[in-house]
Amino acid sequence: MSIIEARDIQRSFDDMIVLSGLNLDVQKGEFLAISGRSGVGKSTLLSILGTHDLNHGGSLRIADTATNGLSSSELAALRREYLGFVFQDFYLLPSLTAMENVILPSVFSGGNLANARAHGAEILDKLSIRANETQTSLLSRGERQRVAVARGLVNRPSVLLADEPSASLDEESEQILFDLLDDLRKQQNFALIAVVHSTVILHRADRVLELKDGILHETV
Ligand SMILES: Nc1ncnc2c1ncn2[C@@H]1O[C@H](COP(=O)(O)OP(=O)(O)OP(=O)(O)O)[C@@H](O)[C@H]1O
Ligand SMILES: [Mg+2]
Repeated sequence: MSIIEARDIQRSFDDMIVLSGLNLDVQKGEFLAISGRSGVGKSTLLSILGTHDLNHGGSLRIADTATNGLSSSELAALRREYLGFVFQDFYLLPSLTAMENVILPSVFSGGNLANARAHGAEILDKLSIRANETQTSLLSRGERQRVAVARGLVNRPSVLLADEPSASLDEESEQILFDLLDDLRKQQNFALIAVVHSTVILHRADRVLELKDGILHETV
């Protein structure tokens, strides 16, 4: 069973066709990198796969559940159980600390906060972020990016959807981040679907698909 199965996904904005019949199957545990030029629709695809954008044609199954026709609370439950997100613009709450941002998904989902804090502390520590009282608006862009990654991982998702998760990092920090993602992926067997530009990171992926002309293409 694929953890994500997308069939004939279509998405347009006004008269501009961005996705035009895209198919995708993602297996648990794999690292799928998505590449493609700016404006080609990578973030659009991730928000569809993450059930944030519902205005698309075609069908999507997550963990064998069809998303079409689910209510917003059923979708929220599906996201909570299976999905973690690292957004291109982070979407951290600036007045909250790193730890407060990281445990936010658990606060919303009514999860166990002590567990979230413990797991969050572990991930923040591995990413060299101090879990102190500093509000995230005062952190550097690269630090905020790592906080966003930690937040995406804290609920132990089955799929982590990450939109350029190392775009603000230097090469060494990028390697550290993907080393951590590899370790956690092996431990927890989640699928990583990441928009990636760096060729070094593309080489680490199990598969690289290029988004072009509205569909995904195998790359060699
Ligand atoms: N809500 C929206 N309303 C109108 N147009 C949109 C909307 N969201 C995305 N688009 C358009 O769809 C196209 C794809 O955008 P998207 O953000 O998915 O590209 P991308 O591949 O992620 O680009 P980048 O690499 O720069 O992040 C762009 O032309 C964008 O302007
Ligand atoms: Mg984008």
